[in-house]
Amino acid sequence: MAELQLKSVEKMYGNGFKAVHGIDLDVKDGEFMVLVGPSGCAKSTTLRMIAGLETISGGEIRIGDRIINDLTPGKRGIAMVFQNYALYPHMKVRKNLSFGLKLKRKPKDEIEASTGEVSGILEIDELLDRLPKQLSGGQAQRVAVGRALIKSPEVFLFDEPLSNLDAKLRASMRVRITDLHKRLRDEGRPATVIYVTHDQVEAMTMGDRICVMKDGHIMQVADPVTLYEKPANAFVAGFIGMPEMNLADAELTMDGTPKLTLAGQTISAPADLSARLNAAPGPVTLGIRPQHMTIETDGAADAFSGVIHNIEFMGHEVNVHVTIGDAAFIAVVPTEKFDLKLQRGDRVGLRPTGVQMHIFDRASGENVSLAE
Ligand SMILES: Nc1ncnc2c1ncn2[C@@H]1O[C@H](COP(=O)(O)OP(=O)(O)OP(=O)(O)O)[C@@H](O)[C@H]1O
Ligand SMILES: [Mg+2]
Repeated sequence: MAELQLKSVEKMYGNGFKAVHGIDLDVKDGEFMVLVGPSGCAKSTTLRMIAGLETISGGEIRIGDRIINDLTPGKRGIAMVFQNYALYPHMKVRKNLSFGLKLKRKPKDEIEASTGEVSGILEIDELLDRLPKQLSGGQAQRVAVGRALIKSPEVFLFDEPLSNLDAKLRASMRVRITDLHKRLRDEGRPATVIYVTHDQVEAMTMGDRICVMKDGHIMQVADPVTLYEKPANAFVAGFIGMPEMNLADAELTMDGTPKLTLAGQTISAPADLSARLNAAPGPVTLGIRPQHMTIETDGAADAFSGVIHNIEFMGHEVNVHVTIGDAAFIAVVPTEKFDLKLQRGDRVGLRPTGVQMHIFDRASGENVSLAE
């Protein structure tokens, strides 16, 4: 069993900077957990504490029923793949793969069998007799993954392993890594994975669950669909989704039914939202995904009136940038539903469809529109 648990884990660096503020995280046996968040939010620090490359200032880390706080990295049953995969430059791929097992004094035939198996899985058989400098970025990264895999670790840690690759290679490596994870699961030897990235596409497509971090705090842990549909706070709402969710200061009033005022314009909250709302009247942050607004004629009921200041034709859809007072909104409209005569400077109505419209407490950022 390689369930991994972090309990109230803290990190205070030597200079007195507190990078991690008592985080709790449970990663299930065989789960693919992604840590995502902006630069400096302590993803690497957290991963390095799990690997044992960084001391823990408070709390507890467990693998299964072992507390591993004080174990040396080699004794933790963990393998880590870094961004700058750092293969040994003077060793051929075969030796890069097998070196770790050699250090552990494994028998020669066992080393050969493991090397063969791993190179088969990662499709690097034909590269075994090359030096790292004779590999492409994607091939080198596969060797780096192989070097971790060959150790049969209980827990795999990846720290932005694809960030050095170009977009196309990243996309194919993404699929390879998730395929590998599924394959190990199907073969009955599931690997628990923690994968760090700041790329929300990697997070959404790879993770069984995603842990969103900010400034050394965990903002939400959930599966991709929940994270997208029910963001716990304005930070998660703005971080996940493309283009970003529209977030704007608004005023909530309860005039019989809930109403929203933005830039001096008041509309009734869509029925879907009213049913979920668990908020007191007052200042709120309104959150609407670009995909969840329609462009109407100016003056249409329950639409905000605004001015188009840019139109981006994307092919199958159109990104329409509309300013309402001081607030900048983007609506993503399917091309067939977009009136191609509309131009920059035209005044239109922007109507929230109600689907997944969110209200966040202005002060705390907490989502107050999730009530069942
Ligand atoms: N050795 C150190 N001493 C002091 N502060 C540090 C040290 N290492 C990292 N930090 C700080 O801790 C915070 C978290 O750093 P960390 O490298 O974990 O962030 P990250 O989320 O991995 O960022 P990135 O996406 O840029 O890799 C940052 O504010 C960083 O400046
Ligand atoms: Mg990092």
